[in-house]
Amino acid sequence: VARVIDVVRRHASVRAYAGPVEERDLADILEAARRAPTAWNLQPFYVSVVRDGEAKARVAEAVGGQRHVAEAPVFLAFNVDLEKILEAARLAGVEPANPGLGGMVQALVDVGIASGWAALAAEDLGYGVAFIALYGNPCGVQDALGLPRQLVPVVGLAIGKPAETPEPRPRQPPGSLYGEGPIPPARERARGVLEVYGVKARRLFNVVLAPGGYMEKVGSAFRECWEKAGYRV
Ligand SMILES: Cc1cc2nc3c(=O)[nH]c(=O)nc-3n(C[C@H](O)[C@H](O)[C@H](O)COP(=O)(O)O)c2cc1C
Repeated sequence: VARVIDVVRRHASVRAYAGPVEERDLADILEAARRAPTAWNLQPFYVSVVRDGEAKARVAEAVGGQRHVAEAPVFLAFNVDLEKILEAARLAGVEPANPGLGGMVQALVDVGIASGWAALAAEDLGYGVAFIALYGNPCGVQDALGLPRQLVPVVGLAIGKPAETPEPRPRQPPGSLYGEGPIPPARERARGVLEVYGVKARRLFNVVLAPGGYMEKVGSAFRECWEKAGYRV
């Protein structure tokens, strides 16, 4: 009997796909997202299933021209859907406040867990998956998929039969990631981070963390799209 931990140990993102996703497997993958736990059991997300070639190509463009998005047989976009929750509140006779930062934090955690469950289900069924950042251009992805402004794309999953079997990629040593009792100094925890990237660390941090880098761009793009949805930050 295959165990979840075996799937986890084998995981490596797959960005080249050989074949389609069976209908019943797709149903199981989506069921994994549906069964995932969420804060207050609110399930504040809506997953867009994308198989149409042109739609996938538009999403691929919106996320910076990632070919594997266009090439994946199935692409799942995990969107925050607080609109249905607020509407449900009104139907139940409660005029809801703006969900604001609290709603954002909870919904993002929920989407992260649900997409993670879907990814594990897909890998357990023999598929290769790659998470795709949608939070860097959420409104662009909305346009690519014809989504309403109220549904904010966060993360995607490209799924297909693997056409490559990459080795599991490096991870930080346990001491940088967890522990009981006193927290090791940042210097020590940082060493484990640097181990993962080796000589590429400086270049990567320049792209991601330096002023004007990716992290700042995500912040402004997500804030803008979140506010266009009518939510405060
Ligand atoms: C939230 C999130 C966003 C990601 N965005 C992308 C992406 O846009 N494109 C991509 O090719 N991989 C993306 N990845 C995959 C990571 O690059 C990958 O998981 C990481 O490098 C570790 O490699 P591994 O999954 O093979 O172990 C993303 C992963 C996560 C969790």
